[in-house]
Amino acid sequence: MSKIKEIFLKDYTKPSFSIQSVDLVFDLFEEYTTVTNIMQFTKLDETVNDLKLHAVNLELQNLHLNDLKLQENRFVVEEESLCILNVPNSFSIKIVNKIYPHKNTELEGLYKSGDIFCTQNEPEGFRSITPYLDRPDVMSVFTTTVIADKEKYPVLLSNGNKTQCHEFFSTDSSRHGVTWHDPHPKPSYLFALVAGDLGSISDSYTTASGKPVELNIYCDLGNESKCYHAMKSLKEAMLWDEEKYGREYDLEFYNIVAVDSFNMGAMENKGLNIFNSAYVLADEDSASDVNFMGIQSVIAHEYFHNWTGNRITCRDWFQLTLKEGLTVFRDQCFSADLNSQEVQRIEDVKALRERQFVEDASPTAHPIQPKSYISMNNFYTATVYEKGAEVIRMIHTLIGKENYRKATDLYFESFDGQAVTTDDFVWAMSEASGINLDAFKVWYHQSGTPKLKVKKEFKDGVYSLTLTQGISQSVDGKEQGAYFYPLKMALLAKNGEEVVAKTLTISQMSETFSFENLEEEPVLSINRDFSAPINIEEEGSDFAFLMKHDSNSFTRYEAAQSFAVETIEQLMQGEEINEAFVTAFGYILDLDIDASYKALLLELPSVSSLMQRQREIDFDVIYEAKEKLAEYLAKYYEQKLLSLYAEYHEPKSLELDNTAMGKRALKNRVLRLLSANDTQKLQELAKVQYENSLTMTDRVVALDILENSSSEYKEEAFRDFYEKYKEQTLVMNKYFSLLSASHREGVLQRVIALQGDTVYDEKVPNLVRSVIGVFARNYKYFHAKDGSGYTFVADKIIEIDKINPQMASGLAGAFKIYSKMNEVNKKLMQVALECVISTQSLSKNSFEIINKILK
Ligand code: BES
Ligand code: ZN
Repeated sequence: MSKIKEIFLKDYTKPSFSIQSVDLVFDLFEEYTTVTNIMQFTKLDETVNDLKLHAVNLELQNLHLNDLKLQENRFVVEEESLCILNVPNSFSIKIVNKIYPHKNTELEGLYKSGDIFCTQNEPEGFRSITPYLDRPDVMSVFTTTVIADKEKYPVLLSNGNKTQCHEFFSTDSSRHGVTWHDPHPKPSYLFALVAGDLGSISDSYTTASGKPVELNIYCDLGNESKCYHAMKSLKEAMLWDEEKYGREYDLEFYNIVAVDSFNMGAMENKGLNIFNSAYVLADEDSASDVNFMGIQSVIAHEYFHNWTGNRITCRDWFQLTLKEGLTVFRDQCFSADLNSQEVQRIEDVKALRERQFVEDASPTAHPIQPKSYISMNNFYTATVYEKGAEVIRMIHTLIGKENYRKATDLYFESFDGQAVTTDDFVWAMSEASGINLDAFKVWYHQSGTPKLKVKKEFKDGVYSLTLTQGISQSVDGKEQGAYFYPLKMALLAKNGEEVVAKTLTISQMSETFSFENLEEEPVLSINRDFSAPINIEEEGSDFAFLMKHDSNSFTRYEAAQSFAVETIEQLMQGEEINEAFVTAFGYILDLDIDASYKALLLELPSVSSLMQRQREIDFDVIYEAKEKLAEYLAKYYEQKLLSLYAEYHEPKSLELDNTAMGKRALKNRVLRLLSANDTQKLQELAKVQYENSLTMTDRVVALDILENSSSEYKEEAFRDFYEKYKEQTLVMNKYFSLLSASHREGVLQRVIALQGDTVYDEKVPNLVRSVIGVFARNYKYFHAKDGSGYTFVADKIIEIDKINPQMASGLAGAFKIYSKMNEVNKKLMQVALECVISTQSLSKNSFEIINKILK
């Protein structure tokens, strides 16, 4: 395995050359594309003789240095490089090479999504387009000409501003070209090109300083009417970044293109974002509320990168969290400002715990700034993103809102146009606030979720809190000393009143905080707003009291979750149902609060959160206990749930405002709670909701409930859905996901059959994710005790690895919990994983993940 090479942060060295400008010409044809690349170089390190460019599978047509054609003895082509020998101090290079976009199934570099030419270059895709110094600290000014058949590809796009249109009347009048110039120096990973016969919608935005920007969203012809929500979100994001960060847009164009074949969600290429169509296209009939919210946040995320990522970029890929953690924090705040602060925070913490905490406790755990990688593609992780965002949030809390704004201003002012490190960011935060953050840096370098043990004592009116940090078992080595973080807490009197509300700064392995002059023993509300991404270990917490009285919406939710977890764990140990929990649950049912928040308070803990607490994971035990509690609640509160459903169900409402979405969230939560008890009545409600509702949100929930019930109507409903939506791939993803996530017998057989559906296409990542990816997260059947789930997914990994390694290693992630599984499942998983890793010519992506899991 010669291509498996580990890259280390400690080996970073500065580039030996800079590139002043790049001129690219793309001649696009059906069977191949010719790339002409002219670059102006300057040597930065005069002791270096040779110029070594990144180049993957280079098919070189010719090569010039300062207009002189180079003979074979002046350069060396290897599998991943082009080395030009003995170059002068300042020179130009012209390269002509050939690539085959229509054969590119990896979806990296230049490829075709259906009939559209498009690119994905982050992190290292550009080197498969043309030889280059493909590293983020080499920034250059790009001019790009795209030439293609006029009729098949009327729309030709690249980064920056459109400067020229070309017609070739004398040579080939069937072709045309467009030249784009991007004045902002940028790394190659932000380069983009699109060519296609696209529909579009246009709008405009005037920046705070009065500059007009033309906004365009491109999509497949016929989908234009589904782009308006994305356009609205873009304008909201532009305004928010001006108001909250003082950042304006800096080009004449902001173009977004939606494509169906895309490995990720979306990409922030300068002035030309390319999006997975799932994060652009939506209308009331085909998209759910979750889709609308997702589009708003992803559009904003990519827009925000223009300052946090593009204008200021990463020195090297180990700094990825510099742009991603920060930008996720920005998009979380944006969504909270536009929708609901309390719901957004809870949803973000839920996502963090489901994905990042699991990762941090697994063999693939890594710090938000990793120390090494084999395939950088594997490091676009929940840790770099979500934990990275939590780290920025903690800085925000530690230095305060005003200082944070001063600090981001200083950051933009100091580093605009540069490729920097996370240290540079922390420097700005510290410099502007006057708060020393040296001790805080542990968060960047250490993996694992920190623990905090809480000891409480009340004596003579003094309440003492002794907080002891746990040693986290990070897989990557040494403990680096105490963590430094803000811990929001309050002490509540028996009537719920806050007697103390503080943000403690935690900095020692163990410390005691005392609160004096208290009349009675208070109740502790700790880690309010989830101010630090840690696990709290606290005994004797009064969950029922906090569910009733805690004024912090996060800790109140947390109390409800913890109480439910405790109750389910008692059931797992064969104990009876805790009536106190049932009563507390009933209390929440009666609360008059925001509907979407109430929907969250009524959600039972996820299987993932229960699994994380098991020393040896056994899903059967978890399911049995959780279902028992759910069924009990459904029966006990049947009347109340039914009347809540009737109260909040508005089948004809199509509104997308927070009130309407909140009502849908609550009544669907209630319907799901009722569904634990598989009655005629419930089945009838789901059927009527499926038939009468106008929103995709309602239809999908109804279908899901029918699928998992004994209703005979389900076949008809699924057939109806299929017939209605078989032409809309995005909706078909939902159809496939529902079936792959089913808890009914025989799921694996049905999943296997789904792959034969005419809509299914193994080359389209969204479809693979909704069939195979969803099945691999169907705990009940993926972990079947006969090993059938593991064998199926392992075979798929091997198959898909040959087409698209990034997708394959994504699927392999389902095996991350291997080491924590019970003996039976563990053995079966091991067999499946060993089968994958012994495959001939497995990609480095899949190798890296599976090798770590097996070690
Ligand atoms: N820069 C990334 C896109 C990307 C991801 C490039 C992976 C290369 C590899 C983009 O800004 C991003 O973070 N996209 C996310 C969505 C976002 C809202 C968190 C994605 O694609 O999942
Ligand atoms: Zn991003």
